[in-house]
Amino acid sequence: MSVLHIIGGRRLSGSVPVQGAKNSVLPILAAALLSDDICVLHNCPRLSDVDASIAILRHLGCRVEQEGDSIAVDSRPMCISEIPHRLMREMRSSVIFLGAILARIGEAELSMPGGCELGPRPIDLHLEALRAMGAEITKRSGNLHCQAARLHGCEIHLSIPSVGATENAMLAAMGADGDVVVHNAAREPEISDLQAFLCAMGAEVSGAGTSQVVIRGGERKKLHGCEHAIIPDRIVAATWLSAAAAAGGEIELTRTIPEQLSTVTDTLRRAGCQVRTGEEQIYLKSAGTLHSVRPIRTQPYPGFPTDAQPPVMAALTLAAGTTLFVETIFENRFRHAGELARMGADIRVVGRVAVVTGVQQLSGAAVEAADLRGGAALVVAALAARGESRISGLAHIDRGYSGLEDTLTLLGADIRRRPEPPIS
Ligand code: UD1
Repeated sequence: MSVLHIIGGRRLSGSVPVQGAKNSVLPILAAALLSDDICVLHNCPRLSDVDASIAILRHLGCRVEQEGDSIAVDSRPMCISEIPHRLMREMRSSVIFLGAILARIGEAELSMPGGCELGPRPIDLHLEALRAMGAEITKRSGNLHCQAARLHGCEIHLSIPSVGATENAMLAAMGADGDVVVHNAAREPEISDLQAFLCAMGAEVSGAGTSQVVIRGGERKKLHGCEHAIIPDRIVAATWLSAAAAAGGEIELTRTIPEQLSTVTDTLRRAGCQVRTGEEQIYLKSAGTLHSVRPIRTQPYPGFPTDAQPPVMAALTLAAGTTLFVETIFENRFRHAGELARMGADIRVVGRVAVVTGVQQLSGAAVEAADLRGGAALVVAALAARGESRISGLAHIDRGYSGLEDTLTLLGADIRRRPEPPIS
């Protein structure tokens, strides 16, 4: 295992492109199963979760080739409908394969995803959506078995605008012989990217980005191969912006979609940063002296993203005054707070609320990432802290950040990955 060594206190400056979105590429890799042809994806980030998805595709019989940031999936040889536990446990979001396999083969078997670092992660809404289309689902010895001689059109009403359930419904609907309408659908940009990919394969899907997504059925259409570029990762962009806000400096992010980040850029602007946006660029200048902002409440898109809460919180530990964070999406999403406190932050967590009172300075410390975005928060804090920090638990961070040290080094950070010294 490795550890990140960061010597903080250096201002960040320079221009970096933002990687492709993890949360787009994962469902789109699953969707590639539906084409019975070759799909080529561009702007794919190099991440352990992407490797896990590729391993699943290969297990199912697909041929997958990677070159640079492109991935070609040939799903013609696909013949297997079951994903073994050893592959499922690598990545919780592999449940997204359920709808795609079901649509393609008419049955699917995989192990139940357990809870995760963020608390319980139920999939009841995913299963309700598939059942509404006619799938029979049985659970036995920790496995889910789904079968559908025929999937039919239906109206699905999600009780929560779940991103994963919306995606699973869209994928399964590709096998339905009638129209599927998803009400109270998630409106995240990744849903729009999935719609764009499905349409590029010849599907008729509309409404992504609104609360109602319509998938036109009919006789199951033969979907063809296509090329598609994955949208930029708005959470990675939010992380680099938080880092520059906290450490001070002037950075430009290229290959972004600024309007997808407006809640984050508005927050950083209110905290005292200068933020300007171009067509695909975001510029942020920070003197490193921030002030508190009104309460930040995480919400489904277009609200403040739960995934950006940890890195933005890390930046605001240095903001004069008190900022409240209210986490409404996941139960266990303040695990970074204790580690930030080890670096000198003043954070009180009461249930789903974190009260952050700004301190003048953070100090480098040995801290451990407990989840992906919480790990990103520790990186942000370490870049701004005085002295050296050592961050362990990098497997979490590597799930979402491609070339983390290279990007931050380009921005002038002092960051190195070193093997963890053995415990004596
Ligand atoms: C996705 C993102 C994750 C992000 C989250 C919210 C991926 C791979 N992950 O996760 O980074 O933090 O959206 O923006 O895209 N819920 C249920 N029953 C279900 C499904 C969800 O109760 O069947 C609840 C969850 O517990 C959570 C809420 O709905 O409280 C939102 O979860 P959801 O939108 O489904 O998140 P994910 O798709 O898992």
